[in-house]
Amino acid sequence: MKTQVVIVGAGPAGLLLSHLLHLGGVDSVVIETRSRQEIEATIRAGVLEQGTVDLLVDSRVGERLQREGFVHEGIILRFAGRSHRIALTELTGRAITVYAQHEVIKDLVKVRLDAGGKILFEVKHAALYDLDSPAPQVRFHREGKVHEIEAQFVAGCDGFHGVSRPSIPSRHRQEFARSYPFGWFGILVEAPPSTAELIYAHHERGFALVSTRSPQIQRLYFQCDPQDDLKAWPDARIWDELHARLANAEGWKLDEGRIFQRGIIAMRSFVVEPMRYGRLFLAGDAAHIVPPTGAKGLNLAVNDVRVLSSALVQYFKSKDEQALKGYSATALKRVWRAEHFSWWMTSMLHRFHDGTPFQHRLQLSELDYVVNSKAKALTLAENYVG
Ligand code: PHB
Repeated sequence: MKTQVVIVGAGPAGLLLSHLLHLGGVDSVVIETRSRQEIEATIRAGVLEQGTVDLLVDSRVGERLQREGFVHEGIILRFAGRSHRIALTELTGRAITVYAQHEVIKDLVKVRLDAGGKILFEVKHAALYDLDSPAPQVRFHREGKVHEIEAQFVAGCDGFHGVSRPSIPSRHRQEFARSYPFGWFGILVEAPPSTAELIYAHHERGFALVSTRSPQIQRLYFQCDPQDDLKAWPDARIWDELHARLANAEGWKLDEGRIFQRGIIAMRSFVVEPMRYGRLFLAGDAAHIVPPTGAKGLNLAVNDVRVLSSALVQYFKSKDEQALKGYSATALKRVWRAEHFSWWMTSMLHRFHDGTPFQHRLQLSELDYVVNSKAKALTLAENYVG
């Protein structure tokens, strides 16, 4: 098989890239190890920056998102039993939209398949070859046969554990990493929303977050041991912990409901530089990971793809390589801003078990400053909305 761009991975980065290339007249093939059902059911985060929404709407894949997504104009920080609103829209003129990542995936798969786009699901043993030549190739097994795709470019959109990043010789990449001594326990619950805006809570027992998915389904998280066992958390213990961490002096109460999905999420920060090797370009989690506290992961993937798709379209239109040469540096600027913001939010809001009382007082002072200083609130708001 031959194509102009072979895209490894059908997550948000790979699918959106394929869609934007198609709109720009560039042909691509997407390969994916999982099935369509699996990628459409994987539970991930759900906060879209305004710029992400605008891009999806402008590229005609935002119709359901506009109908079913929830626009939020603020978030709540809760600590010392009190709630404080960060007025995102008043401060920045922009808003965020809550719409689950797997819904974005469904919309993108549909728009690609409706347009005759090629997505090959359930491929095995993918390997990348000749990345430093003008004719890179991707080989893989599918339905018992070996296949080979020759392309002019390869886009590595296969996430943190994919084959793309390790295909870059180690002397050509530099990696920056930090892990955190905690994870997030995430649940989906059948209940009405307890709050009109997301609540980020700092508590001595650890962080908690109240988010939403729909008028019937809520998304809740709480800080846990990353090695924790799901079986150690019967429903009653989960609710006790959430009630304790979200306790407040304002009479607000969390509504319980049937828990129908649960999982533990690891927290790490990671960046590889550069995001290019020869004819391979990395985008999304293949190149960088942020802890979810800043709600940036999907938005960074979308930004990478915005920059990469326009650089590739420019190349195929006029053989002008200038924008492709600038891809990594352009994308990394925003990546590092989000890395800092996500690390900062994580550090301010979580309980560090090896932290000293001195550090804890600093956290409280910083939270107090964020909610009482317009300058600091604006710093949070403009990073949060992107
Ligand atoms: C979510 O709704 O899944 C969510 C919201 C905010 C975050 C992370 C995840 O910071």
